[in-house]
Amino acid sequence: MIAKPVIASFAVLVVAAANPSHTREARKASPKPDKSCAEFDYDALSLREVGQRNTLDWRMYLLHRNEPISFWHDVPLYPDPENKQIVNFVVEIPRWTDGKIETRRPEALNPIFHDEKNGAPRFVESVWPHKSYPFLYGSIPQTWENPNLNHSFTGFPGDKDPMDLFDIGRDDGYTGQIKKVKLLGGLAVNDGDETDWKMLGIDIKDPLAALVNTYEDVEKYRPGTIQAFRDWFTYYKVARGDEIIPIIGETYQSVSFIVDTVEESHRYWQDLVSGKEDPGKIAIAQTSQVILSSWVPCKSARKELVIPKKASKPQEPAAKPERYHWWYYLNAERELVQVP
Ligand SMILES: *[C@@H]1O[C@H](CO)[C@@H](O)[C@H](O)[C@H]1NC(C)=O
Repeated sequence: MIAKPVIASFAVLVVAAANPSHTREARKASPKPDKSCAEFDYDALSLREVGQRNTLDWRMYLLHRNEPISFWHDVPLYPDPENKQIVNFVVEIPRWTDGKIETRRPEALNPIFHDEKNGAPRFVESVWPHKSYPFLYGSIPQTWENPNLNHSFTGFPGDKDPMDLFDIGRDDGYTGQIKKVKLLGGLAVNDGDETDWKMLGIDIKDPLAALVNTYEDVEKYRPGTIQAFRDWFTYYKVARGDEIIPIIGETYQSVSFIVDTVEESHRYWQDLVSGKEDPGKIAIAQTSQVILSSWVPCKSARKELVIPKKASKPQEPAAKPERYHWWYYLNAERELVQVP
């Protein structure tokens, strides 16, 4: 029910913007859309886990009324379109874990998977004094870091992913969890000359959420953490031999700017799923925007898109390589200290 106003306003926008050949009506003679998928019900969500954790074959699917939907394209951006400071958040990486888990762009309905580096599951090194991911990390649904234009603030094209967010709530979270978070600011990260925003948020159920409205407010209750999280993003790839990751503007951007930046990114996403932007290798099939050609009815999505029918039997995760159990240390020049 809550999602309805979003869909309505989106429909007007898309009809105005999209080529008629992009509408489902044009492609299929008068379909009878089953709108039950479009009415997003948070209480009807569940997960389907397939394969063994810490392997490249592992997948996590999101289900809505027991039918698979896309974490990226079907979870609404705003729980309440009247309050744009609160967004939905897809938890990919729970706090205190090391696996680089993310939404899979090119696969139908964009399940969560374990990212790959050199043919193996990717993990993140702990750079002293940080340990693992010190926050919940994931993405903001229905947003897109557009690679086809230079972002007006950063000057660099987007990294093709949904926008990233880190949640400083005290709950550790779990992969595939959908949370509502309050935006408090954001870091404009330049990762390899691509725009890769890291939005700062807090779970609205966290006891601190009602007391903080900006990243500056966090300092009062958790002194030092804002700077520590900024540093985490700056140095975490140095241990694997990469450069320091520059943050454009050095510090966090204000809430009002971030709220606008997320909304802008939502418009880029609309262009993506409507076909106005060439999706390239991105899978844009979705079950919630009935007027678009990327729409697949929820009842037939599983079969049509060949989504696994069943979860795997619960199994122990594959072992994490030993080098990710250690700490790595940087010298005063912020270079990795090599032990002879
Ligand atoms: C983005 O900026 C780069 C470097 O200034 C420039 O070469 C490129 O043409 C720009 N791209 C677009 C799409 O404007």
